[in-house]
Amino acid sequence: MKYDVPLVLAVTSGKGGVGKTNLSVNLAYQLAQSGHRVVLLDADLGLGNVDVLLGLAPEKNLFHLLHQNATLEDVLLPTEYGFSILPAASGISEMLTLTTGQKLELLDALDPLDDTVDVLIVDTGAGINDNVIYFNIAVQERLLVLTTEPTSLTDAYALIKVLKLEHGVERFRVIVNMARSEQDAKRVFSKLHNACDHFMSGISLDWLGYVPRDEKVRAAVLRQIPFSHLDAKSPASIKVHELAGRVAELDVSRKLDGNIKFFWKKLLFKE
Ligand SMILES: Nc1ncnc2c1ncn2[C@@H]1O[C@H](COP(=O)(O)OP(=O)(O)OP(=O)(O)O)[C@@H](O)[C@H]1O
Ligand SMILES: [Mg+2]
Repeated sequence: MKYDVPLVLAVTSGKGGVGKTNLSVNLAYQLAQSGHRVVLLDADLGLGNVDVLLGLAPEKNLFHLLHQNATLEDVLLPTEYGFSILPAASGISEMLTLTTGQKLELLDALDPLDDTVDVLIVDTGAGINDNVIYFNIAVQERLLVLTTEPTSLTDAYALIKVLKLEHGVERFRVIVNMARSEQDAKRVFSKLHNACDHFMSGISLDWLGYVPRDEKVRAAVLRQIPFSHLDAKSPASIKVHELAGRVAELDVSRKLDGNIKFFWKKLLFKE
């Protein structure tokens, strides 16, 4: 099922190394397989994880739309898996130092995305820093990834707290990665849910699902192939397939002026 207007979501976490990039890439893969037009924005600025996972070397990034007179087509990097990569490559601080004219120019250059994309997935970086915060504010939906490690729980809570108390962001959908079982994953989700219920009001925390620890993930990383492509029947692939189905069915508000445009506007103008 295609969206009438695009869905913009971040894959995010408090703690680094919980599997955001792997989940972003594989969600992009699964959504593309089910007929969605997907762009994966590599917002893990400076580290460029997405390209490493896919064995790609992007030559251009968002800023080439401004400085080098490149078109969106030049900057979007197609993959052999049916989705494209949009390398952000530079920090939000650089985006915010652009003049109003440059920001409008960038918005114009990005405009075609609204009509050509069904899902924009934003892979945010590690840690709780400005980049991660701004991307989380600008998206419509946040997929919050945690593992069963206690530090991942406390860091997820810390991210929710900053986004809620300082920026009014209230809705999160939780994915527990590298879990031993569904029971284990649900226990972690309950802990986070309880902590939010006790110490903050107004947070909407929904269970999206879990992905088991799976040796095939590491093997796929080493081969620079999405694990869902390497082995569609591996336990992690099966669960990401389910997750992608749920993402495709998310009932989110659709803005008539274009959700992707709205995302860039929020990001660039902090509206
Ligand atoms: N379900 C899984 N089973 C086994 N290993 C996994 C799984 N998910 C991720 N990993 C491993 O965890 C490591 C970190 O994954 P990934 O790079 O996707 O995390 P990240 O959250 O994007 O990290 P960062 O915060 O640094 O951007 C990878 O080496 C990957 O092989
Ligand atoms: Mg990453």
